[in-house]
Amino acid sequence: MTSVTARAPGRVNLIGDHTDYNGGLCLPFAVPMSTTTVARPRGDDRLRIRSKAFPKSWTGRLDDLTLDGRDTIPDWVRYVTGVLWAAREDGWPLPGLDLVIDSELPLGSGLSSSAALECSVAIAVGTLVDRPLDPGSRQPLAELCRRAETEYVGAPTGGMDQLASLLGKPDHAVLIDFADLSVRQVPLALREAGLVVLVTDTGTAHQLAGPDSGYAQRRAECDAAAAVLDLPRIGLAWADDLSRLEDDVQRARARHVLSESARVEDVLAAVAAGDWTAVGAILTASHTSLRGDFDASTPALDLAVFTAVDAGALGARLTGGGFGGSAIALVEEERADVVREAVDAAFADAELATPTHLTVLPSAGASVSRSG
Ligand code: GLA
Repeated sequence: MTSVTARAPGRVNLIGDHTDYNGGLCLPFAVPMSTTTVARPRGDDRLRIRSKAFPKSWTGRLDDLTLDGRDTIPDWVRYVTGVLWAAREDGWPLPGLDLVIDSELPLGSGLSSSAALECSVAIAVGTLVDRPLDPGSRQPLAELCRRAETEYVGAPTGGMDQLASLLGKPDHAVLIDFADLSVRQVPLALREAGLVVLVTDTGTAHQLAGPDSGYAQRRAECDAAAAVLDLPRIGLAWADDLSRLEDDVQRARARHVLSESARVEDVLAAVAAGDWTAVGAILTASHTSLRGDFDASTPALDLAVFTAVDAGALGARLTGGGFGGSAIALVEEERADVVREAVDAAFADAELATPTHLTVLPSAGASVSRSG
């Protein structure tokens, strides 16, 4: 094989945030925008990694793929070398590689540009070295990418984004139960119902990596709550257990996690019944919980969410980690422009920079587009 081109999409999380690392439920779907990696094997042990988004390419050697070796590697390159590091740890026989990356996903926007990058590299390189990449083999691949992000990049994320990118399917969402890591593609016929998801990027990039990020703090608070209850993860608690948490902050974080998983189940029931009004109301309730109990929202996210609802969206919420990034609104297709304009006007009134918008529908997961 002389080269492989693979694409992996970003994701929107319809509902179920901050549940993955807590052993709860989430319901993301793949979006149409993706990251593409062209991988070519080399005859030597060199690595050359170039992204069209950055002026400088990075060159190194296979032996540089160690945890100690990562410190001199630029931040964005670590998402790539992290995948190569994890792949080697899993025994993939990697040759030297030329990798060229191109992305339609804005960085730090909450659409999982990092998972898309990791998954496109994993699928491209996995194809070159003959790894099984059929849908049944993709969960271990998602885990490899998550390890790259957690253990190598140092962003303690939970694994939802990689599973959505690798297992997305048009007109379906990916239901993931992190209690037992089971995954199911569930129909989400937004198109048929005349609905779209309007994504509003607030332009305040969120940062998941590092021990001081809001994300890492929330994770630590959830782990502390689980430890008090003597559970491996707080999502495995029962609602009755909450009263045993004496710390108000821990109790609020835990309440969000448990109520959010329950909302995922409620959304599944409402989707199955075709009750999109109910779906919308549950999405907005999720935002209220993420904003209050989980304290992961920002004024710009709140403005995007509540303006969208006032302008006629069925429901809206921040999506992903929060602390910046994007909000989503479930909206009738013909109302999307009105909602978008209302959000822009509200941002202008608040003297915030004009946000950017996308409309998305559940789309295909990662694939190899060319090899030869
Ligand atoms: C980020 C992480 C995910 C998940 C969400 C919050 O997107 O990468 O693993 O924890 O935040 O639901």
